[in-house]
Amino acid sequence: MKRREFFSAATGIGVGTLLTGTAAAADKEERPAEKRRQVYECIECEAVVEVLVAGDPPSLVHCDEPMELIEDQTTDPAKNKHVPVIEKVDGGYKVKVGSTAHPMTKSHYITWIELIADGRVHRQYLKAGDKPEAVFHVEAKKVAAREHCNLHGLWKDK
Ligand SMILES: [Fe+2]
Ligand SMILES: [Fe+2]
Repeated sequence: MKRREFFSAATGIGVGTLLTGTAAAADKEERPAEKRRQVYECIECEAVVEVLVAGDPPSLVHCDEPMELIEDQTTDPAKNKHVPVIEKVDGGYKVKVGSTAHPMTKSHYITWIELIADGRVHRQYLKAGDKPEAVFHVEAKKVAAREHCNLHGLWKDK
């Protein structure tokens, strides 16, 4: 199941309706400002992009439609399969997704895991069959983690 099909099934809203609603939001007056490190998705082709430098006015478009912001989530009722867990290990940090291992199949998997260490972003890309975890060889005073599931969006540790 593709993310757009999952979203449509979960919400009961057809993709056509979503596109219409999104197109209405295309008006630059209605769109919130884009911010660095926000992640956006095209619900037509499922391309995912991250904002490195925000534009003004907001203008991210893909497949002729405004891209959808993927909000960070921190609470997962489904046995904590998505919220990343940071563990200190020798010489760095291991980030697992989640406290119950997330599936890593071709249709449902973690696409990447990030460790934000003292403000620097480190990212490990994953593919189906990999373990839903990553080790980052970095020392830092303050760390946070974020991950992206191809079906369920963006998650960060609390
Ligand atoms: Fe697209
Ligand atoms: Fe998922």
